[in-house]
Amino acid sequence: MDGGVGRKVVHPAVEPLAYLIGTWRGEGEGGFPTISSFTYGEELTFTHPGNKPVIAYSQKTWKLSSGEPMHAESGYWRPKPDGTIEVVIAQSTGLVEVQKGSYDAENKSVKLHSEVIGNASKVKEITRVFTVVNEELSYVVEMETNLTDRQPHLKASLKKL
Ligand code: HEM
Repeated sequence: MDGGVGRKVVHPAVEPLAYLIGTWRGEGEGGFPTISSFTYGEELTFTHPGNKPVIAYSQKTWKLSSGEPMHAESGYWRPKPDGTIEVVIAQSTGLVEVQKGSYDAENKSVKLHSEVIGNASKVKEITRVFTVVNEELSYVVEMETNLTDRQPHLKASLKKL
């Protein structure tokens, strides 16, 4: 008996992205034409509460030199059986995103572009591309601001713990 809580099963919509579920840790580097480049440590966690067609996502980053916290964000990934996906993210800076895009289960890649950005002072557009190759998760985040065309802001590689 499960006490009526419900048995934990992977929802069929989540199955193609089940390889993401778990905790990933690694390092990244950031930059932009208007700022000094920097490096960071990062932990990403994807959890699937079971039964619902959603993966919960949380990210935290820190300075490699001191461990001091940097940016953090969390949200929900909602894959659809037709290969599209929507992702909502709330950032520690106050910015919120609705991302839409597609996933390729065979190549373990997810491509997202912002459909909605809220409460941002400078950011006009954000794209995020995630790929898993040889059990390493890497991503690139690009952004466009009021002063700068779309350029990379972040790239990182992480391994599953
Ligand atoms: C700067 C956005 C993620 C660290 C900036 C700026 C923007 C921005 C608009 C100012 C650029 C300018 O003045 O022209 C974003 C967005 C993110 C993101 C939209 C996620 C999609 C991160 C992450 C980190 C980070 C994960 C750290 C690991 C920094 C640093 C600066 C910066 C160190 C320069 C100093 C500062 O302004 O605080 N970011 N950022 N950002 N970002 Fe990000």
